[in-house]
Amino acid sequence: MIHHTVRGAEVPALGFGTFRLPGEDCREGVEHALAIGYRHIDTAQGYHNEEFVGEAIQRSGVPRDEIFLVSKVTPENFAQDLATTSTRESLRKLRTDYVDLMLLHWPNPGVSLEQPLASLARLKREGAVRHIGVSNFPPSMVEQALGVTELFCNQVEYHPYLSQTTLLEQTREHDLLLTAYCPIARGKVLEDTLLSDIGARYGKTPAQVTLRWLIQQQRVAAIPKSAHAQRRIDNFDVFDFELTDEEMQAVFALDREQRLVDPANGPDWER
Ligand SMILES: NC(=O)c1ccc[n+]([C@@H]2O[C@H](COP(=O)([O-])OP(=O)(O)OC[C@H]3O[C@@H](n4cnc5c(N)ncnc54)[C@H](OP(=O)(O)O)[C@@H]3O)[C@@H](O)[C@H]2O)c1
Repeated sequence: MIHHTVRGAEVPALGFGTFRLPGEDCREGVEHALAIGYRHIDTAQGYHNEEFVGEAIQRSGVPRDEIFLVSKVTPENFAQDLATTSTRESLRKLRTDYVDLMLLHWPNPGVSLEQPLASLARLKREGAVRHIGVSNFPPSMVEQALGVTELFCNQVEYHPYLSQTTLLEQTREHDLLLTAYCPIARGKVLEDTLLSDIGARYGKTPAQVTLRWLIQQQRVAAIPKSAHAQRRIDNFDVFDFELTDEEMQAVFALDREQRLVDPANGPDWER
């Protein structure tokens, strides 16, 4: 496993995503991911599967303090002190006293940023949240949030077809983690000729080359999701090869500004 050190904390660079992994599939998937060796699990209030993640962690027998557990506050829970009550509910479902990282899932222009961030800062002082982060925040909103509280992470869409140069510079400047969601572009990388040519040199698939490319970058974590056991194994099998500088640059050059997650009520991405 590759770890990144962010604000003095060690984060496993490869995690397991659970969006659109409901119910028993989620429990089974997370339990299996932990058995393979994943130690970073990503869920959210909005995924409606926190209780299955919690059950999987408990059943896995992996000590809680070996897992970097991430959840997210839904934007509807930003007002008043709903971030506090909903996070406590998340902890109950996750069967744990703390999450390693709690993110604001999307910007909510209807509520001042201070409200949910102040709630999370209080939970952090109590130990219920180890670190606070944001998700889908463009650079200026990250700056704004940093004016309210210390941040650990911005989780955004990032893969070979969507560069994140400005946000990556910002993570270096402020000692943040950038977690790449949709890391294999929801399967779109699989047919890529360049990625398959690079993979052929190492006996790896385009998905494996992509995941390696992400986590080989400083301060970048990747959280691929799969409902299939063999794919979970394959996605984790990226620690026995290393891309050269030339190969890293060749993958960077695949950028075509292709954003897969871009809801109508989403933020201005400032690109
Ligand atoms: N913060 C946010 O707003 C946000 C938004 C989106 C996602 N996320 C997080 O990021 C995680 C990952 O993103 P994502 O699930 O959207 O996209 P992804 O991980 O890039 O791709 C997942 C898709 O690719 C397939 N797949 C996975 N591994 C594969 C492999 N080795 N070979 C072929 N196909 C493979 C999966 O199918 P099967 O499942 O059928 O195998 C699934 O359809 C999510 O689960 C979630 O935790 C966060």
